[in-house]
Amino acid sequence: MSLLEKINKAHLPGHIAIIMDGNGRWAQEKGEDRLYGHFHGVESVRNIVEAAAELGIGYLTLYAFSTENWDRPQDEVTGLMELLVDTIRKEVPTLNKNNISLHVIGEITKLPANARKELQEALYETSSNTGLKLIMALSYSSRWEIVHAVKNIAKKIKEGTLLPEDIDANLFQQYLCTAQFPDPELMIRTGGDYRVSNFLLYQLAYSELSFTDTRWPDFRKENLYEAIIDFQHRERRFGKTGDQLKAGQNS
Ligand code: IPE
Ligand code: IPE
Ligand code: MG
Repeated sequence: MSLLEKINKAHLPGHIAIIMDGNGRWAQEKGEDRLYGHFHGVESVRNIVEAAAELGIGYLTLYAFSTENWDRPQDEVTGLMELLVDTIRKEVPTLNKNNISLHVIGEITKLPANARKELQEALYETSSNTGLKLIMALSYSSRWEIVHAVKNIAKKIKEGTLLPEDIDANLFQQYLCTAQFPDPELMIRTGGDYRVSNFLLYQLAYSELSFTDTRWPDFRKENLYEAIIDFQHRERRFGKTGDQLKAGQNS
């Protein structure tokens, strides 16, 4: 039985989020420079997006560049931005062919003008696709997102259009970049580190976490299938007891 056949299609995670880590080390282990790793990481992006679309996953969020990544050496940041522009431009026809719509979360105003332009065009050109929603986290960090949400809520209160007592988890959620997306059910981090690195801190509250030593440029469909199969064997209790779940109780 292949890994793909082992996946229960009736119990897929609706939203998978991935911290695509390990590009730099993958390259350095081969005696190459870090950008070589990022370049090869794009192959994995293509492969995993295709796998998610084939499986019928609803949402795939990819952490591509964090707020903190702006502090990397200038040549790496410039190289990454060029790669981003180039990749978006080349991938739009494939996204359309596979009925995938592109979305973005993060502080987009910090991106170079040509990257913003390319991105806006890609968002527009794929906006009527009804299949997989591919969400790129660019210049994203969770603390930035939460602070940004709080500022916008504070503005509404100051204007008098929102009352403090109206703030609850549901309202707060609507001020996050992910307002239109469900929380991830499965979060995968490649590259061998066991941390969240400022990614979707609020949204990962009840996500299943999957960590692999595989560096992102080596991550392929089979690795995704393994993570999904593992996810399908977990008991998600959401604070309840295992017995309560078995009895199908709601409280
Ligand atoms: C992830 O790979 C990609 C980005 C953060 C842009 P890294 O570049 O962090 O690779 P490592 O973790 O240094 O190996
Ligand atoms: C997280 O990876 C960000 C992305 C994958 C885009 P980092 O490589 O920036 O995270 P740390 O520095 O190891 O925590
Ligand atoms: Mg890293």
